Amino acid sequence: MRHLLSVADLGAAGIAELLEVSDSFVEVSERAIPKVPALRGKTVVSLFYEDSTRTRLSFETAARRLSADVMNFSVSGSSVAKGESLRDTVQTIDAMGVDAVVVRHSSAGVPWQVANWVGCSVVNAGDGWHEHPTQALLDCYTVRRARGSLEGLRVAIVGDVKHSRVARSNVLAFSTMGAEVTLVAPPTLLPPSLEGWPVVAVSHDIDDVLPKADVVYLLRLQAERQSEALLPSLREYTACYGLTRRRADLLADGALVMHPGPMNRGVEIAAEVADLPLSVITRQVANGVAVRMAVLFLLLGSAPAA
Ligand code: NCD
Repeated sequence: MRHLLSVADLGAAGIAELLEVSDSFVEVSERAIPKVPALRGKTVVSLFYEDSTRTRLSFETAARRLSADVMNFSVSGSSVAKGESLRDTVQTIDAMGVDAVVVRHSSAGVPWQVANWVGCSVVNAGDGWHEHPTQALLDCYTVRRARGSLEGLRVAIVGDVKHSRVARSNVLAFSTMGAEVTLVAPPTLLPPSLEGWPVVAVSHDIDDVLPKADVVYLLRLQAERQSEALLPSLREYTACYGLTRRRADLLADGALVMHPGPMNRGVEIAAEVADLPLSVITRQVANGVAVRMAVLFLLLGSAPAA
């Protein structure tokens, strides 16, 4: 595999392999000195055209733990501010002899474009509303670690599905690994068509879905992507779809509460629910580093030295 652009690049066997490799990097991350020489001499660039806290830091930490050199490109302060095009920017970076670029952009499809323009590996760190494959992989890893396997698990993905690249990648990854995915959202926050989405059901009634769920995966309400008024008010959204303290009591023993971050505490998830023992939100972040180590290792580790 040269690039990781979509969850679909991997398939069930590819995801399973990646999760296994991640196990060994969790072990590395727990060592006193969490570093291995696997990617010594390789250079990884993070190219983020959109805001990020955890994804960018997670990739950079992952690359450093593999002993790769890390370059961090931020759009403000670069020649993008002088009007340099995306193509010229990535070809300039590629010409410096880097081994991988990790790309986040507000437009769907940009990582595919970049992959056509450069000789190095490309990892999609989120493109518009489209995909966020490493988020889906770290979420599969987190569920697998907590529950043994995803096979037959009932996963409810709740909230702003329409604007969510996390939802698109996670539906694909969870269903590929044998989970049954139900979407829970108001009609205005669903995409116009769900044709081709591998989900078993769509519900507008979270109270009906929660008692049967093994995993409840909350999405951030993406106010910055909503060009029109899709909701009467945030308070109404929380009343109908938020994981309140009362609703958390509907969950079965052993159920998991997940969120990709950043959370709007008090909107899609009550502040106290995010901190309950059934919430694995910080485990998602911790596992994210190991899973991204596995991604970089599988892309760059076995390639012959250029
Ligand atoms: C998400 C993103 O940016 O796609 N965050 C993340 O990467 N963990 C989700 C979001 O912004 O809601």
